[in-house]
Amino acid sequence: MRWRYFIILQIVILLVAAGLIYKHQDKAQLVKTPPTELAQWYKPENKRQVWLHNMFKLRREMQAVEFYAKNQDAEHMNKWAEQLNEHYLKIAEMVPSWQKKLAVSTAAELRNASEQKDYASVLVQHKILQQSCDSCHDDYQAITALTYRTPDFSKIQISSELSFVDHMDTLTRQVNQIKISAQDGNKPLALSSLVSLNDGMTILGETCVDCHKKDRKPYPSETMKKTLSSLKQSLESGTAKEQGRDLGTLAVLACARCHGTHRIAYGAKQKLIKEISFSDLIKH
Ligand code: HEC
Ligand code: HEC
Ligand code: HEC
Repeated sequence: MRWRYFIILQIVILLVAAGLIYKHQDKAQLVKTPPTELAQWYKPENKRQVWLHNMFKLRREMQAVEFYAKNQDAEHMNKWAEQLNEHYLKIAEMVPSWQKKLAVSTAAELRNASEQKDYASVLVQHKILQQSCDSCHDDYQAITALTYRTPDFSKIQISSELSFVDHMDTLTRQVNQIKISAQDGNKPLALSSLVSLNDGMTILGETCVDCHKKDRKPYPSETMKKTLSSLKQSLESGTAKEQGRDLGTLAVLACARCHGTHRIAYGAKQKLIKEISFSDLIKH
């Protein structure tokens, strides 16, 4: 008798859980996150982007094997098939938990067929192997790139006391102060806020070289500087329309361009790697 209650209770719990999941399916997204062992094959844990380079090799080897199989060139086909096999198996050497994602027997059959100059069979196995590539990529490619290759601003500081985000807050206040004061006819405050913004931008620019060493990105750039001086002029003697136009141009050049690359990607990455605590899950 007690058992019956127990089973009924279990079923009720299951139904409630299923109901909750169903109800929230439009709000929650399940994402497969890549194994953390991957980190060691990426900068900064590794000097080189080892994982990515192995992938580039695989794509080249796949192309070469197909090319030589179609041209019935056994010698070259064999050479590339051997390398393809080696680099394909390297996937699981680097990330052991992905062993089960590999079509190991397909890779072996491809190699055998290549040694036996069975071109038709090589092409068949090649196609099956490609499906194994695609299947892992469907699940993990974009999410891995986002996790391990998105520039990380969490450790960037403007100075020992000033965090990056706080400086962003200052910049946006300066931009808005210019707009507010210009609209309300407070020319001196608009102009002094512009001077502060100019300084704030120069300080921000010093952080770019942390990462942009080779492809130097002068910030503020020449175009931004021109817009800054045009804005100064229109604040001094221009119309409201000219002021608005210059400020808008400046915001696009000096803020929106960089946000388009860095803020969007970094924000998505942060969301993704933020460990979802159990209480968060329950709340959801
Ligand atoms: C077990 C998972 C897995 C398998 C199997 C796999 N890959 Fe990948 N591959 C990845 C991940 C993860 C990335 C994303 C790496 C990144 O962007 O930093 C990737 C990225 C790539 C890229 C780079 C894409 C680009 O242009 O940025 C290429 C090329 C590639 N893989 C080729 C292959 C080929 C060819 C095969 C099959 C022979 C293969 N991969 C099998 C996981 C896998
Ligand atoms: C944490 C490292 C890092 C910092 C700091 C950084 N960048 Fe980048 N930035 C990168 C990387 C890496 C790329 C290459 C694209 C990618 O992988 O997202 C890039 C790409 C860009 C791009 C788009 C591509 C291009 O070359 O036009 C712009 C614009 C840009 N950065 C501007 C800036 C500016 C301006 C600053 C300073 C205010 C800055 N970045 C600071 C790492 C960084
Ligand atoms: C490196 C290129 C870069 C440039 C140039 C840049 N930003 Fe940002 N901004 C970022 C990044 C990255 C974040 C996200 C920081 C974070 O969440 O830790 C951000 C966040 C912000 C935020 C949100 C801050 C918060 O409290 O969450 C504001 C507001 C902002 N930026 C304003 C500006 C303004 C205004 C300018 C132009 C004067 C500007 N930014 C120029 C990269 C840039």
